[in-house]
Amino acid sequence: MTLTTTTPAPATAPADLGADAEVRRPTPRRFLMCRPDHFDVTYAINPWMDTGAPVDRAKAVAQWETLCATYRRHGHRVDPIDGVPGLPDMVFAANAGLVIGDRALSARFATPERAAEGPAFHDRLAGRGFGRVTAAAEYNEGEGDFAVAGGRILAGAGFRSTRAAHREVERYFGRQVVSLDLVDPRFYHLDTALMVLGDTIAYYPAAFAADSVRLLAGLYPDAVLASADDAEVLGLNGVCDGYHVFLSDRAVRLAGQLRERGYHPVGVDLSELLKSGGSVKCCTLEWHGYPRG
Ligand code: ARG
Repeated sequence: MTLTTTTPAPATAPADLGADAEVRRPTPRRFLMCRPDHFDVTYAINPWMDTGAPVDRAKAVAQWETLCATYRRHGHRVDPIDGVPGLPDMVFAANAGLVIGDRALSARFATPERAAEGPAFHDRLAGRGFGRVTAAAEYNEGEGDFAVAGGRILAGAGFRSTRAAHREVERYFGRQVVSLDLVDPRFYHLDTALMVLGDTIAYYPAAFAADSVRLLAGLYPDAVLASADDAEVLGLNGVCDGYHVFLSDRAVRLAGQLRERGYHPVGVDLSELLKSGGSVKCCTLEWHGYPRG
């Protein structure tokens, strides 16, 4: 099914949302994305990956192109990053690093299979003219595990990025980093289990340690809690521009929850990339706070 429409944000809350519904507005975003020209599943570093299952690369490219076109149609800018032959996971550009304002911290991958992507992404970020681009010293899988949420950064640990990496990010960007522990290998990156929705978040509690759930409940008492069904299709691996939420078209219940809260879900089919354990957000590295002008 398709949830896609290009309806502009309403100036006032739609009548069926009731008087209390907040009015949400999109703001233009800038994304870095890497075409899946070399995409494949040649190793298995998360439970989604099955090296025996065939991958249709042409279909992956077509689905990815549709995601880019969808972003552009909604007013966002997509800057391409070149992939490298033999590095099949570079399509997951969210893992390239973290880019805020004039500063980027490029990733250091935790698995040997992806280690060579660190320097490759570093070179590509360094070539873009940011004021400062530094390679992370600690294991740090970029926006896969670091979610910029207003003035703070939510960070995942347990499978890939480490708590030492959280502290490094805190020092480098000078922002508070809230550490969260992931406990389910299917949700090996923070962005598989949690998505930022402007001033609140959506998350799947069962993916987190009990202490982390308590922390999230305290910080975001109004968070959207996703069901297992939606989490298991990586429905939380979405991107919100303040109003539209780009997410898997399979996350039907989550789309309904978002609609009730005044967001506008835009469903996207990335079934080929799901074979590697990725969806919308994984393909998307946001340049937060880019200078507008
Ligand atoms: N196959 C990739 C891996 O396991 C998928 C990465 C998905 N990226 C993400 N931001 N969650 O590393």
